[in-house]
Amino acid sequence: WGMPVLVCYALEKKVVKSKVGEKVGLPCCHEIPSSESLHSYRVYWQKNTTEVVLAYADGKMISKHEQYVNRTEMDARNLTLWISPVEILDNGSYQCIVQHRRLLQNSVVVCDESVTLFVTADFSKPNVTADVLADSCESTEMVVRCSSYGGFPKPKLSGALDNESTAWNDSWVSESSLRAYNVTGKLWLNVTKDISFTCSVEYNGFAESTSLLLKKTKECVVPTVPPSYNVITASSIIIITFLLAITLAARYLPRHGKYSSFFKKQSLTAYGVSMQNTHL
Ligand SMILES: *[C@@H]1O[C@H](CO)[C@@H](O)[C@H](O)[C@H]1NC(C)=O
Ligand SMILES: *[C@@H]1O[C@H](CO)[C@@H](O)[C@H](O)[C@H]1NC(C)=O
Ligand SMILES: *[C@@H]1O[C@H](CO)[C@@H](O)[C@H](O)[C@H]1NC(C)=O
Ligand SMILES: *[C@@H]1O[C@H](CO)[C@@H](O)[C@H](O)[C@H]1NC(C)=O
Ligand SMILES: *[C@@H]1O[C@H](CO)[C@@H](O)[C@H](O)[C@H]1NC(C)=O
Ligand SMILES: *[C@@H]1O[C@H](CO)[C@@H](O)[C@H](O)[C@H]1NC(C)=O
Ligand SMILES: *[C@@H]1O[C@H](CO)[C@@H](O)[C@H](O)[C@H]1NC(C)=O
Ligand SMILES: *[C@@H]1O[C@H](CO)[C@@H](O)[C@H](O)[C@H]1NC(C)=O
Ligand SMILES: *[C@@H]1O[C@H](CO)[C@@H](O)[C@H](O)[C@H]1NC(C)=O
Repeated sequence: WGMPVLVCYALEKKVVKSKVGEKVGLPCCHEIPSSESLHSYRVYWQKNTTEVVLAYADGKMISKHEQYVNRTEMDARNLTLWISPVEILDNGSYQCIVQHRRLLQNSVVVCDESVTLFVTADFSKPNVTADVLADSCESTEMVVRCSSYGGFPKPKLSGALDNESTAWNDSWVSESSLRAYNVTGKLWLNVTKDISFTCSVEYNGFAESTSLLLKKTKECVVPTVPPSYNVITASSIIIITFLLAITLAARYLPRHGKYSSFFKKQSLTAYGVSMQNTHL
């Protein structure tokens, strides 16, 4: 038994991240050796130096905060504070204070250390809608809205047109530092061609995004466009084949009377049918 050893060096800040609904363990600064038990210690887990979250003395729980009822557990060896399920309100700084009780002596502080818990809540996938306000041959005027809700911490909402980031005409984030945030953005646009719009909500290193194709709705009649290369090729092949067939027919058919009369009959029949249709 020498002097109590100060186990923790509060130089580096401990940081723990967790999502709402998950289970998280906040490490303490002391591990009770197997020769001893929690009975000879007092352990205080506090939040933001003022509220006691959980306290143990003589191996028994002596205090518990109502916000944490049924959501906390402490490891009897390494004194890790387990919180499950995590809530947004749990976000903040915690301290673990460990005192060792000795017979005929005042208790000695073994260690006192802080750990910061950063709570994150997932935002909903952004909902992107577009409403057409006016339509002309040149452009389609529309209002694009993007919204996402239920996340934490405060997010950044961004918009991009074909990957080019764009500023919102109007945006709003709900006011709250201890509840989930809602966020919306609005954009007025003149769309001159089909363009892809992407809305992203970014928070604490996470991001969710949704894309929507904005279509130019009104297509005005434009002069007939020249046929494409493929159409020209296809037509040429058909025309050449046709000419070749005619040439061959002109050369061979007149010498074989039965083919010739067969073709005449066919065309007459076809003519008769078309006449009938006209009368109906
Ligand atoms: C404490 O012990 C638990 C298991 O009992 C373990 O999961 C956890 O990682 C330990 N924490 C530290 C800081 O050693
Ligand atoms: C800690 O509590 C004090 C008052 O008790 C308050 O002013 C401060 O904002 C709190 N800090 C955090 C991080 O909650
Ligand atoms: C905590 O758990 C106990 C027993 O499981 C239950 O009776 C009590 O209602 C719970 N309290 C809260 C606040 O959920
Ligand atoms: C809650 O978390 C945010 C970032 O996640 C942090 O900036 C803020 O200070 C925290 N609030 C408290 C009360 O600790
Ligand atoms: C998206 O927002 C529109 C109105 O802006 C609403 O009518 C629609 O229900 C929302 N969709 C979802 C999936 O939330
Ligand atoms: C936008 O970026 C994504 C990935 O970075 C890429 O796949 C896509 O083709 C790009 N779109 C445009 C219109 O540049
Ligand atoms: C929206 O913003 C764009 C560019 O930032 C601007 O040209 C346009 O006039 C704005 N529209 C409205 C309705 O505020
Ligand atoms: C955020 O959105 C949710 C769901 O749409 C709603 O229930 C809640 O009241 C909104 N909160 C605020 C502060 O607007
Ligand atoms: C879109 O075009 C219309 C008419 O061409 C114009 O009145 C309007 O201000 C334009 N809006 C934007 C956001 O550029």
